[in-house]
Amino acid sequence: MLTPPPGRRAVVVAGLRTPFAKAGTALRDATAGDLARHCTRELLYRTELSGGEVDEVIMGQVISSPLVYNIAREVSLLPQLPRTIPAYTLNRACASGAQAICNAADQIMAGHADVILAGGVDTLSDVPILHTRKVAQILQAATRTKSLRERLSLFAQIRAQDLKPVAPAIAEPSTGESMGQSAEKMAKENHISREAQDQLALMSHQRAAAATADGRITAEIAPWFGGPNMDQVITTDNLVRGDTSLDALGKLKPVFDRRYGSVTAGNASPLTDGASTTLIMAEEKARSLGYRPLTAIRSYAVAAVDPGWQLLMGPAYAVPRALKRAGISWQQLGLIEIHEAFAAQVLSNIQSWSSPAWAKRLGLPGPTGEVDWAITNVMGGSIAVGHPFGATGSRLVTTMSNEMMRRDVQFGLISICAQGGMGFALVLERVP
Ligand SMILES: CC(C)(COP(=O)(O)OP(=O)(O)OC[C@H]1O[C@@H](n2cnc3c(N)ncnc32)[C@H](O)[C@@H]1OP(=O)(O)O)[C@@H](O)C(=O)NCCC(=O)NCCS
Repeated sequence: MLTPPPGRRAVVVAGLRTPFAKAGTALRDATAGDLARHCTRELLYRTELSGGEVDEVIMGQVISSPLVYNIAREVSLLPQLPRTIPAYTLNRACASGAQAICNAADQIMAGHADVILAGGVDTLSDVPILHTRKVAQILQAATRTKSLRERLSLFAQIRAQDLKPVAPAIAEPSTGESMGQSAEKMAKENHISREAQDQLALMSHQRAAAATADGRITAEIAPWFGGPNMDQVITTDNLVRGDTSLDALGKLKPVFDRRYGSVTAGNASPLTDGASTTLIMAEEKARSLGYRPLTAIRSYAVAAVDPGWQLLMGPAYAVPRALKRAGISWQQLGLIEIHEAFAAQVLSNIQSWSSPAWAKRLGLPGPTGEVDWAITNVMGGSIAVGHPFGATGSRLVTTMSNEMMRRDVQFGLISICAQGGMGFALVLERVP
């Protein structure tokens, strides 16, 4: 277990996010900077934190713009903050927001900072669309030419097919396999049925709808003002389908293996726009400023598997590692949040935690633990609320911290699978 020096325990004070929206819909015209700055600004207002207290801003982003490559710095240039706050952006794929928070915790425990704004953002409505390498090389060469003739002869080399735009793929660079194809492979190899996947998706939507209706989710959302006259106020995520059913989910066609597959638009997380920010402080600092911390970061762990194997199985390794570092057992967990990239991935991960064969493979004395759905993803998950890659880790930390307070739970576990075969796990502890 990490033992921070006295007063240096890193605590979660508060967190806030934008509404999450299906890519191409309500937040289509917002940039990642707009979204990240919006929820951070509102977090500062709601916590009444003086900008001068902030030591650093850390943001996770997976698909960044070549025009704004350090989005965290754009956040730290909010008018509410002094212009002298350093900031950096990191990429741990879908665990980026959680990594930003753990980096903040490390900085705080090392005594390098007292107050850090950490979170993440992605907008799948605004992915960079690139030219082919050949066109880019010709355009670069054209800037070095001395005459119009030279330039025209360069441009004459461009063929119509060279102008086909290149968009980022949600696929592994090392294997070419998409996330969806990997989830499909995992469903087949781990014998995860279509029914089990749809059941999980249904639960995700029903729970997210309930937590939206009773205000637990909306309390974590900074309302977004949209429309040409800024008169459209968005206070909820637009992907939650409280009215979906097993029947409706069962009718959806598989997307990634149309013939024999089981992964559908209904049991996969959707492409999403959104941002989330969490306020992390040294415990002593939080108390001196009059805050009541929600939780403390007790431990975290990252693992990676061969991306060519089962791409989203990283949590099978990361979760037991984080529990060991936290010095607690699975049985001590009062809440669990599992990022739902795909239902097939969630069900594969939980199978590994409860499996004696997996325990042997990991050199553990016995299985990590059996998931109890009464304490797992109690407010739904990424299938229902959406998954703006960089933001999800921060959403999970905020949601879990608030729910741990409400339920008076001592320990909570967050599990996130990520591109590149990585898995991320984080243990939160309730602060008295
Ligand atoms: C799966 C995926 C391709 C689907 O994209 P899409 O086709 O734009 O999905 P849509 O939201 O339009 O849904 C398709 C259909 O399913 C329906 N549908 C989706 N979810 C549903 C639900 N819960 N209940 C009932 N119907 C549902 C939609 O209404 C739509 O129906 P329509 O065609 O009649 O309008 C896309 O979401 C995706 O790529 N997801 C994975 C993202 C990923 O890889 N993330 C990385 C994870 S780490």
